[in-house]
Amino acid sequence: MTSKEKFNNLIGKIVNRFTSLSQDENAGAESEKVVTKGMPELARQLAAEGAVLLKNNGILPLKKGSTVSLFGRTYNDYFYVGYGSGGDVNRPYNINIADGIKNCDSLNLNEGLHSEYMKWIKLHPVSHGYWAHWPLRYEEMPLSDETVIAAKQTSDAAVVTIGRSSGEDRDCDLANGSYYLHDEEIKMLDKITARFDSVIVLLNVGNIIDMSWVKHYGDKIGAVMYVWQGGMESGNAVADLLCGKVSPSGCLSDTIAKGYEDYPSSNNFADKKRNIYEEDIFVGYRYFETFAKDKVLYPFGYGLSYTDFDIDLIKSNADENGFSFTLSVKNTGECSGKKAVQLYISKPCGKLGNASRELVAFKKTKELNPNESEELTLYVDAYQLTSYDDCGATNNANAYVTQAGEYTFFLGENVRDAKKIYSYYQEETALFEQLKQVCAPKFDFTIMKADEIDGKTVLSQKPVAKEKYDLATRILNNLPQEIEQTGDRGIKLGDVKSGKATMDEFIAQLSNDELEALTRGGYKMNNPLGPKGNAGIYGGVLESLREKGIRPIVTTDGPSGIRLVHSSSLLPIGALMACSFNTELVSSIYKIIAKEMKERGSDVLLAPGMNIHRNPLCGRNFEYFSEDPYLSGKMGAACVEGIQSEGGSACPKHFACNNQELCRNTNDSCLSERALREIYLKGFEICINDSKPKNIMTSYNKINGVWCHYNYDTCVTVLRKEWGYEGNVMTDWWMKPSKSIEFPKLKNQAYRVRSGVNLLMPGGERVTNEKPDGTLLATLGKRDGITLGEIQESAKRVLQSVIDIN
Ligand code: BGC
Repeated sequence: MTSKEKFNNLIGKIVNRFTSLSQDENAGAESEKVVTKGMPELARQLAAEGAVLLKNNGILPLKKGSTVSLFGRTYNDYFYVGYGSGGDVNRPYNINIADGIKNCDSLNLNEGLHSEYMKWIKLHPVSHGYWAHWPLRYEEMPLSDETVIAAKQTSDAAVVTIGRSSGEDRDCDLANGSYYLHDEEIKMLDKITARFDSVIVLLNVGNIIDMSWVKHYGDKIGAVMYVWQGGMESGNAVADLLCGKVSPSGCLSDTIAKGYEDYPSSNNFADKKRNIYEEDIFVGYRYFETFAKDKVLYPFGYGLSYTDFDIDLIKSNADENGFSFTLSVKNTGECSGKKAVQLYISKPCGKLGNASRELVAFKKTKELNPNESEELTLYVDAYQLTSYDDCGATNNANAYVTQAGEYTFFLGENVRDAKKIYSYYQEETALFEQLKQVCAPKFDFTIMKADEIDGKTVLSQKPVAKEKYDLATRILNNLPQEIEQTGDRGIKLGDVKSGKATMDEFIAQLSNDELEALTRGGYKMNNPLGPKGNAGIYGGVLESLREKGIRPIVTTDGPSGIRLVHSSSLLPIGALMACSFNTELVSSIYKIIAKEMKERGSDVLLAPGMNIHRNPLCGRNFEYFSEDPYLSGKMGAACVEGIQSEGGSACPKHFACNNQELCRNTNDSCLSERALREIYLKGFEICINDSKPKNIMTSYNKINGVWCHYNYDTCVTVLRKEWGYEGNVMTDWWMKPSKSIEFPKLKNQAYRVRSGVNLLMPGGERVTNEKPDGTLLATLGKRDGITLGEIQESAKRVLQSVIDIN
């Protein structure tokens, strides 16, 4: 251990002593470890279904009775989840790969090698660091030739685990040991591949890492599989895959490029102040498939299986609402398995420029036996054919349009191999939906554009379309009506629920202090009104509010389970869930989480995490799903449906453009309105439309100069007015103090409420952890101040959610 690591460990111990929750697997050990019925089976199934097999020369599945040599210390010190609020779950148990192999009937563990590792591990225990100083990997055991030779003589195959982590407030590094292999890992692989003929490499990671070494080792490595961070059942799932009890069926939710520099965001990622999204809508495969096919190692949607499938179109149908495609998927191989089918569209390049492929639908089959087929139907809504014109190039500024030209659908097993199945030609460009300009940049920069020249799509640049409207007028024209205050008339919130009184009559009774209290949480995380370890409460935060029948609503983190002192199930990470392409499975697992929430006293799970994987180094990619907004949106909706199945609430986060952890509270995501709408808001839009979450959380960063917790346009113009969202918009924990540019009298809480962010969580000031900062009521009733109607409207949303969450 280096002296810096030793120092960090010491600081970590001190910091962790003063925090109620910690990532340490033994934290909260005093609480009873509860295993929820049905969860181990589903968690194991999901962990296996999200694993992505990238290479297999036939070595997998391992033959029955094989003895396996496990290398790479993370086979034991497994990264079950990433670090931070999204992973800090006091799980009832963890199964690492050694346990998984021991539990597996058809594989044997090379015990000699295992005991050598265990001796070394005892002398070199891992440290989980502390907040924002989480480890990105662990020190590796040096291997002697004798160890490897002995292992080879006593086993049939080497399974090498490469482990990586990252977390909240901690991006991955573009360095050895994080994005790249560490020298210790290269030495380990060199030694193992020099002796073993059968080598399998497993990636226990939360993010995509550099994969150029696969080519370097060539035939010396027989199989490579991303097993991600699979939650508490990780090891059992890995063993199921190795022995062939389960055939891999995961597909990449991100493109794996040849080099980091090939990702179009790489020039701008990790700037401390401003991230210019110069790639515009060309994120992930949208960039690679359009402009740089040769820079791809493994395309989006790619994933091997132990069996083969035929995918055939049976019929297609088009009407004014969209398209449907019925297809048959047949297992033509020798063992059973599942297949995710993917449908892409190619829209005309036209004046706006489009990516050459966009995912528009997907479905996964059930487990198909050899020779068994299943019929699936995929739907595409007419809205999915549109492109957003943010600059007026089609003479329809700030509108979704369908451009004239050829629309082609491609069906298959990944973005690169999908085959053309249907196309049609549209004569004229048509307006689909006229909207308003929102959040456009205020300064000049250039963005990527696709142009069609001589039938070929080429990359060009164009200036970003800038802001052209007056936000103050937009806001003032939309101020809510005030409800005349009556004082307490004895109406309880239950009377509103039962229909005996109206919401307005109830609100009319509330004093200004009560209204203020409803627009913020109860100040503290780990609030005494909720179970130990909660993230904070809202609703009944004052005695007088509770007397009126408003109960405290308890929030807990998510997404990988419930973050409490009480033990709760630890789920696979979001990136793995997305790779499963199995929304039904994801929804079922969160249904069980919904039961756990009810049993443990959590009303709102601060999940799912829905930001786009813009760059492979983002520290929270593990919590998020994909580089693709459609996949993210559908996965998000599946989580919300599951979480809300028992009457609680989900809280998709972080709305929006939280694509980097470095300087996450101050960073400015600068992007075009089109990229904002088509990429970064789209997943949220799909999720909200499909699953109606009762809460949503803003992000810490700015969008084009405006903090997301003061962003009227994302939170009101788009979210509430365009999408019809009716739930709470809460801040991420605390927020940055600031003054409104449009309304200089409004500071902090008044600025926030005017921007439509109706709930400050966990409330109060960050430093003192108590009392409101006074800024909400300071200007009430004064000229150019906040209005009573706005505060009442904010409170109304909270009250409605108290009614809805039961
Ligand atoms: C994170 C959120 C989390 C909240 C409460 C914040 O630091 O960004 O994702 O839900 O804390 O723990």
